[in-house]
Amino acid sequence: MVRTAVLPVAGLGTRFLPVTKSVPKELLPVVDRPSIQYIVEECVDNGVDDVLFVTATGKSAMEDHFDRRLDLETALADKGKDAELALVRDLAELATVHSVRQGEALGLGHAILQGAQHIGPDGSFAVLLGDDLLEPGCDFLARMIEAHERTGRPVIALMEVPQDQVHLYGAAEVEPTDRDGEFRVTSMVEKPPPGEEPSNLIMVGRYVLPGSIFEVLRSTPPGRGGEIQITDALQTCAQEEPIIGLKLDVPRYDTGDKLGYLKANLQFAAVREDVGPELLAWLREWLGEDAAVGAGPR
Ligand code: UTP
Repeated sequence: MVRTAVLPVAGLGTRFLPVTKSVPKELLPVVDRPSIQYIVEECVDNGVDDVLFVTATGKSAMEDHFDRRLDLETALADKGKDAELALVRDLAELATVHSVRQGEALGLGHAILQGAQHIGPDGSFAVLLGDDLLEPGCDFLARMIEAHERTGRPVIALMEVPQDQVHLYGAAEVEPTDRDGEFRVTSMVEKPPPGEEPSNLIMVGRYVLPGSIFEVLRSTPPGRGGEIQITDALQTCAQEEPIIGLKLDVPRYDTGDKLGYLKANLQFAAVREDVGPELLAWLREWLGEDAAVGAGPR
């Protein structure tokens, strides 16, 4: 049974400077919730309620977000703000949150390795990256867990992109299976040069892994960027026996860079009952008037 998720949040967030100098990118709001809250909600919605943050210096506000905040609760209670009080209290009840530190940002694989003691060699666990938001309420993670429990193999999430964009990502070499959307992954390549793409399926930030991956990670040397990469460890696994890839069939929002983050905010806000209708009406009006475009704050 996969009950634990490792959430690596110790990266430097260099694509999002200067804000990430003082604010972890996972705490930047998408509408009114930090993106990491959507991730923890996705875990819980999919039956994973034990969450391990891999954090670093300056990231402790992330754990605070999922903890009690008694002064705020008292103030809200005194003012009779019951709905807000429930929001704040529910967050502390959402999941069991633990944390472990990654002293140095030595790569995603190294961050995942920090979960070894919590999970142990015989456990299995999910890994979710905060940059990739999936459609709230979707059961994709549960389906990855099912595939892992059925096969015992590492499971990665794959997304179809246009062929001319594959070189920007890590891509998978795959063989079909008799299950719809499920592939055997025989190899993975980071940023393949145009013309050498193994497929148009790229890897996105969801993994379900057996505890045996820790042993593989321990013997994985630093790769691209001098970092210990989870892709390199998975490549070692895939060479022994294909791992499993599940193709995303729900929308994914990439909040790891500025443009993706702005788009995600608009898309999430557009479907919200409280702000969506007014936002869309305003956008139509604003974009409909050429003179107004570019007239926002600088
Ligand atoms: P990224 O490659 O997106 O790096 O990491 P980053 O630091 O977050 O952002 P940029 O590229 O500098 O803008 C993917 C995920 O792995 C975590 C990050 O926090 C992010 O969730 N990570 C990465 C770690 O926890 N530790 C690391 O050493 C590297």
